[in-house]
Amino acid sequence: MRTDHFIRFERVDSVERTERGLRARLHGEQLRVEAVRPDVVRLQLSRGGVFDEKPTYAVCVDPFAADGGASVDWTAEESDGSWTLTTDELVVTLWLDPFRVDVHRTDGSVVVESAPDAEGRYWTYATLNDAWTTRRRIGRDDAIYGLGEKGGRHNRRGRDFTMWNTDVLNEHATAEFRAGLDADDPRADMTSTEFDPYYVTIPFFHQRSAETGTAVGSFVDNGYRGEYEFSRDDEYRITFHGGQWTEYVFAGPSMASIIERYTWLTGRASLPPIWALGYHHCRWHAYKQEDIEVIAKRYRDDEFPCDAIWLDIDYMDGYRVFTWDSERYPDPAGMLKGLANQGFRAITIVDPGVKHDPGYEVYDDGLEKGVFCRTEGGDTYVGQVWPGNTVFPDFVTPEARSWWGDLNARHVESGLAGIWNDMNEPATGEIAPEAMLFDKGRAKHERYHNQYALLMAMGTIEGLRAAQPDARTFILSRAGFAGIQRYAANWMGDNQARWDHLWVSMPMACGFGLSGQPFVGADIGGFQGDTNPELFLRWMQMGALTPFCRNHSETNNVDQYPWSFGEEIHDLVRDVVRLRYRLMPYIYSAFVRATETGEPVQRPLVLDFQDDPEVVDIDDQYLFGRDLLVAPVTEAGMTSRSVYLPAGGWYDWHTGEFHEGGQRITVDTPRERIPLFARAGAAIPMWAEAPASTDDHHPEVVELHVFDPAADGRWESVLVEDDGLTVAEGAPERLTTTVVVSRAGDDVQVEHTTDGPGYAAHARTRFDVVRHSA
Ligand code: GLC
Repeated sequence: MRTDHFIRFERVDSVERTERGLRARLHGEQLRVEAVRPDVVRLQLSRGGVFDEKPTYAVCVDPFAADGGASVDWTAEESDGSWTLTTDELVVTLWLDPFRVDVHRTDGSVVVESAPDAEGRYWTYATLNDAWTTRRRIGRDDAIYGLGEKGGRHNRRGRDFTMWNTDVLNEHATAEFRAGLDADDPRADMTSTEFDPYYVTIPFFHQRSAETGTAVGSFVDNGYRGEYEFSRDDEYRITFHGGQWTEYVFAGPSMASIIERYTWLTGRASLPPIWALGYHHCRWHAYKQEDIEVIAKRYRDDEFPCDAIWLDIDYMDGYRVFTWDSERYPDPAGMLKGLANQGFRAITIVDPGVKHDPGYEVYDDGLEKGVFCRTEGGDTYVGQVWPGNTVFPDFVTPEARSWWGDLNARHVESGLAGIWNDMNEPATGEIAPEAMLFDKGRAKHERYHNQYALLMAMGTIEGLRAAQPDARTFILSRAGFAGIQRYAANWMGDNQARWDHLWVSMPMACGFGLSGQPFVGADIGGFQGDTNPELFLRWMQMGALTPFCRNHSETNNVDQYPWSFGEEIHDLVRDVVRLRYRLMPYIYSAFVRATETGEPVQRPLVLDFQDDPEVVDIDDQYLFGRDLLVAPVTEAGMTSRSVYLPAGGWYDWHTGEFHEGGQRITVDTPRERIPLFARAGAAIPMWAEAPASTDDHHPEVVELHVFDPAADGRWESVLVEDDGLTVAEGAPERLTTTVVVSRAGDDVQVEHTTDGPGYAAHARTRFDVVRHSA
């Protein structure tokens, strides 16, 4: 982004104290500098002199409400040439001439600092027409993490990113962006792991200082097209092509605390039903009802655990949403009942595009109610998606969201357990989306484009909650914006059946996780192109240890069922899916924690070992929950790989061998397994056996696998048990067990205490403690 022509904000005219901090006047605009919490400040600049008080739907609390959890003491002081706003943890300095805003911790360490340009001039903010830019200093070796779903390495430093929800396989949608890139720029090749932009926009990142290991965070609450430039040596730039500058700056210093604050603002994931944590079977294919029944039976006959079967676009009548193709599916309710009897849940795809088809009930009704997006001239906007000419609900209006919610509520009455939202960037095919206006034609496309999927999920969830008020909801979304975690899980869209795409799903998942979205997964096996036995095996071995575990592939590819590649592969992938099911109490507890703290389930090592410079760039291994370290096989023919074990002690899951942390080791990767380690001191709760599905599985016993610490200390693990299905707002019927493992000299103690009112019918009656010792 060239900013040569931008107009810099040079001088502050006046500053005054307000109830929440400072207000300054400059260049005809107003600037707010406000203390949200002792470690969070909000910087906001008006446009045209007025503030947009709800720039997006990302923030779901009133950051300043007395009961919102934020109470903050601050003082403001004027001195020569500047004002300062001070909380217990932060000092914000507003320089008057030239204008700039710097934030430091009270110990003087930098949170954000303006950067001088080549002529030594400082500037913090500049505009050109509707675009604005802010720029800051960054240490040469500082790392950047987050920005949600982005390609390439997990440390985003050294690259530039565009924030514009994009159907990555649609050439028309991406042509403009690609035209602006050099021919050899990897971001231009849609199959490259660095392709950008992607489906989801989350304008939030962490910056880790190479010097101190401390982190700071930034969230820009703006849904317009944006650019984050991290490719420069000593500064970074953030540009948005519309809207106002509203930025929350987080002092850290731990990444975990930044995520906690960020998800306080934008919401935490709602607790998924336990079945959503099982293995999911999906494939884009023109199945008939009996094919689905055969697949389901096969899973059960093979004793291959599976919780959900998905129906892609071909279940519909001519791609008309909320219909069934009655030839292929003569009795959907009967089929769903049959599946339910075998412990399967079913999920169907629901795209936002409604077929432009007078006579089709959903189209006629939407037209009559005026809930479709319009163009400037007042026409209904028409794009090109699966059904051909397609119109789009105007999810910005509450009427359209409720209308959509009702349609979903009716749709799931047939017995569906969840909804899969695709093409919600929104993907409009060969027709550019910009002519699509929102809010009854009052709002430009650009304002809401990136929020379309978030708004769609809001409408969908309204319907799901109305249909089944006691049940936890499940929505899977392709696109999203900051806050999407409140309503939906995300999968990483149309990846390729290639080894580098297997690899990139790790940094991508970790980017999501560090940006508040814990419920993520890639299409296991690869979506586009034919997978092969080895890739499928290795992908299943990794995918079984990721938050959302779904096998999915494109129509016309080779079959990629567990049984498609012979008995050996079948048995090996079943082993690892069984391991996932045995780990269900552990995985479930990790999700409970995510819903309470924002902490991710799949996490890069740098989150838990932030001080260790060795882990800054590690993105070919990750932690699954707090206590399992996974190091997947990422290349064909790999027979061993290097694994970095961070501080502490680690037990090889497969051999039981103990390793001191803080070293790299080489681990064999025979076909049966990928490297997996348990943290010394952890107590990992497991089911003794893998069930066919989570449905009605309430074993009497939970095993507690205790991995003895090799050094003195105290470790805590938490197991949460409840019915896994219902919402129990307010008074959760649940058991919370805290296991404390401690070591002093040769003495290792394991104690556990269980708290809570229990939960109806099915509570476990005892633990079996299984000890693993060095
Ligand atoms: C999109 C989705 C993919 C789905 C296909 C057909 O490409 O990303 O998952 O299978 O559409 O609905």
